[in-house]
Amino acid sequence: MMPFSQHDSTGRLRHLTTLDGLGAAEIRQLLDRAQGFLRAPGQTPARSRSLEGVTVANMFTEPSTRTRASFELATRRLGGDALNLDINLSSRQKGETVLDTIYTLQAMSVDVFVIRDAEPGVCQYVAEHVAEHVSVISAGEAHLSHPTQGLLDALTVLQYKGGFRDLVVAVVGDIRHSRVARSTCQALTALEVGELRLVAPEPLMPDADELTQTTRYTNIDAGIAHADVVIMLRIQKERLKTVSIPSDQEYHAQWGLNRARLKLARPEVIVMHPGPMNREVEIASDVADGPCSVIRQQVTNGVAVRMAVLETLIENRLGRWSRT
Ligand code: CP
Repeated sequence: MMPFSQHDSTGRLRHLTTLDGLGAAEIRQLLDRAQGFLRAPGQTPARSRSLEGVTVANMFTEPSTRTRASFELATRRLGGDALNLDINLSSRQKGETVLDTIYTLQAMSVDVFVIRDAEPGVCQYVAEHVAEHVSVISAGEAHLSHPTQGLLDALTVLQYKGGFRDLVVAVVGDIRHSRVARSTCQALTALEVGELRLVAPEPLMPDADELTQTTRYTNIDAGIAHADVVIMLRIQKERLKTVSIPSDQEYHAQWGLNRARLKLARPEVIVMHPGPMNREVEIASDVADGPCSVIRQQVTNGVAVRMAVLETLIENRLGRWSRT
């Protein structure tokens, strides 16, 4: 079997299961396209017909608010058909394999599978088995990958800071179990961010051979000092196995971002969080809702980024067929 590639034989993006290996130019094209879908608050959202006749199936086996809703909105706003499959009510519960579910939906003309799964490797496995015209997008794979979140985080930084090279970005919290941290760090590294800091208690740091183009801090005050961007992460309690963590109150006291701590960062700092937030655990409410917070803009950007990814994959598919 050929080694898996997200790109087709002409180098066009066909699947998006990870940002690992995507170049700066490719990421910037997606961000530029996403920016074009954004409108001022209160304006009617951008729409087009570029997904007319295209069916996108959302298959989530883990909970989601932002990612699932934004893929559905993105599909509809591009004129496509969105199918939300409730896996808990699907024939998977009667013993049907993942591939049989995929082939069943493919037989109903599903063109794009958007998959969130707790098990590593499911997105790639499906991508390796779908028909040639079908694409797979990861909506979150175990602790490994959340590529559209990485893109929307990069877009948010770009909007507020105008670039990446001179920035200090601190990613704070449970990095070890976070797919968001991995994808966001991959995007920012590809875009040549000035300094990327991993800030976490030792048990929540990733292994030393991961995310190597970063500096590591096990003290939050040192880690966020003079930062331009602080990205807070929740503790992924659903993925903790052997790691024990302090109570919510203790964690907030030691690792929570509060207004006093935020003063250590640059005065123009922006605070980000992928959501869902645990208020008064990793972030104080008055920081989450405060003037430095861009958390709601991240959500807005999520729809635009997912529109950009869907439109790109379908455009690339049309490019492949038009050559044959
Ligand atoms: N950030 C993120 O993936 O949020 P959801 O789990 O709500 O999709």
